[in-house]
Amino acid sequence: MQFRLSEDQQMLREMVRQFAEKEARPTVAERDEHALWPAELVRKMGELGLMGVAVQEEYGGAGLDYLSYAIAIEELSRVDASLGVIASVNNSLVCYGIEKFGSEEQKRELLVPLASGQALGAFSLSEPGAGSDAAAQKTTAVRDGDSYVINGVKNWVTNGDHADTIILMAMTDPSRGAKGITAFLVDTRAPGCSVVKVENKLGIRSAHSCQMAYDGYHLPAWRRLGEEGQGFKIAMTILNAGRIGIAAQALGIAQAAYEAALGYTRVREQFGKPIHEFQAVGFTLADMATRIKAARLLTYEAAWRKDQGLDYVQDVSMAKLFASETAMWTATKAIQLHGSNGYSKEYPVERHFRDAKITEIYEGTSEIQRLVISREITRG
Ligand code: CAA
Repeated sequence: MQFRLSEDQQMLREMVRQFAEKEARPTVAERDEHALWPAELVRKMGELGLMGVAVQEEYGGAGLDYLSYAIAIEELSRVDASLGVIASVNNSLVCYGIEKFGSEEQKRELLVPLASGQALGAFSLSEPGAGSDAAAQKTTAVRDGDSYVINGVKNWVTNGDHADTIILMAMTDPSRGAKGITAFLVDTRAPGCSVVKVENKLGIRSAHSCQMAYDGYHLPAWRRLGEEGQGFKIAMTILNAGRIGIAAQALGIAQAAYEAALGYTRVREQFGKPIHEFQAVGFTLADMATRIKAARLLTYEAAWRKDQGLDYVQDVSMAKLFASETAMWTATKAIQLHGSNGYSKEYPVERHFRDAKITEIYEGTSEIQRLVISREITRG
C-alpha cells in the first residue's frame, strides 16, 4: 500500500494552489457577492490544462489520472468552490462522458476544444420533475430523418449560460422508462436552445446554474451520444466520475474552513489567552482535522480505484457522502469558533458555510448516496 502522492501529483497540487491563491483569491469575495462569472479565470484554467485533467493528450487533455483531477478540484475549491464546480463539470460530467461513450468524430470535433479549454461544457439531466428520480425525464427527442427534434425544460444546468456543448438526456421512447432515455451533444449556438434564467443561489454564486428550454430544437443525428436507450446508463456512469469531483470540492471547502478556524483561534484572545488553548476549541479543531483526513483518504481512494479500472460506485458514494457532510460540519463549527465574526462577510467562513451546503445536494443528495451504498452492501 502506497499513501504518498507521486512527484507529478505533488507538483500539480503546488501549481493549482499557486494559481488559485494568486489569480482567484483577490476576487473571490466580490464574485461571490455579485454572482460574477469568472470568464478570465476559466480561460486561464483551460491554459493550465485544468479543464481536461484526465483526458488523453491526443484529445486535448493533460493526460493525467483521476487522482490528479481530484487534487486539482480540491485545490481550486480551497480558494474558490465556484471555480471547483465549473472545472469539475467540464472535466468529469462532460469530457469524461464524450471520451468514454463518444464516436471518433465527436471526440475530434467536440472533446478536443472542451478538454483544451477552448470551449466549455455542461451536463443536463435534472428537470423540474426529475431530481433524485433522474429517470422521470419529460424532455422528449423525436427522430426526424437525419436529426432529432427536442422539446422540454432542464433545471440546474451548471455552466449552462456559458456552455458551448451540453450533454443532454431526453426521452426517445417513453414506453421503456429509464431504458427509453438517450444522451445527446447539444450545440448551444443552434436555434431552439435558450437560457430561461440563471438561479440566484445561496452559495457557489460565481458558478452559474441555469434553467434551460428546448423548443423545437433540431439536433443532427451525429450528435447523439451512444445508442438510443443508453442515456440513463450513460448519465449514471458519468455521475460516478462526477461524484469524485464533488467529493474533492467538498474536501477543499472543508480544508478552507478548517484553516480559517485554526488561524482565527490562534489570534483571538478571550479570558487572557488565545482561544485554541481552551479544550473545547482544541478538541473541535482536532475533530475537524480528523474528519478532513478521513474524507481525503476516501476521496483519493475512490479516484485511485477508477484509475485502476476497479469498480468504484460504492466507494465514490461513500466519499461524496462523507466529504460533503464533513464540509458542512466543518464550516458550521468554523463559524461557531469565530463567534459573531463568523456571521459577518468580513470573514470567509460564512462563504464556506454557504458553499458547503450544495455538496450535500447536487450530483446525488446525501440520501441518494446512502441509497446507493445500502444497495451495494446488501446485494446478495
Ligand atoms: N453506475 C452505473 N450504472 C448505474 C448506476 C451507477 N451508479 N446506478 C444505476 N445504474 C444503472 C443500473 O445498473 C440499471 O441498469 P440495468 O437496467 O442495465 O440493470 C439502471 O441504471 C437503472 O438503475 P436503477 O433501477 O437503480 O434506477 P433507479 O431509478 O432505481 O434509481 C438512482 C437510481 C440511484 C436513484 C439514480 O436515479 C440517481 O443516481 N439519482 C440521483 C440523480 C443525480 O445524481 N442527479 C444529479 C444531476 S447533475 C447535477 O447535479 C447538476 C450539475 O450540473 C452539477
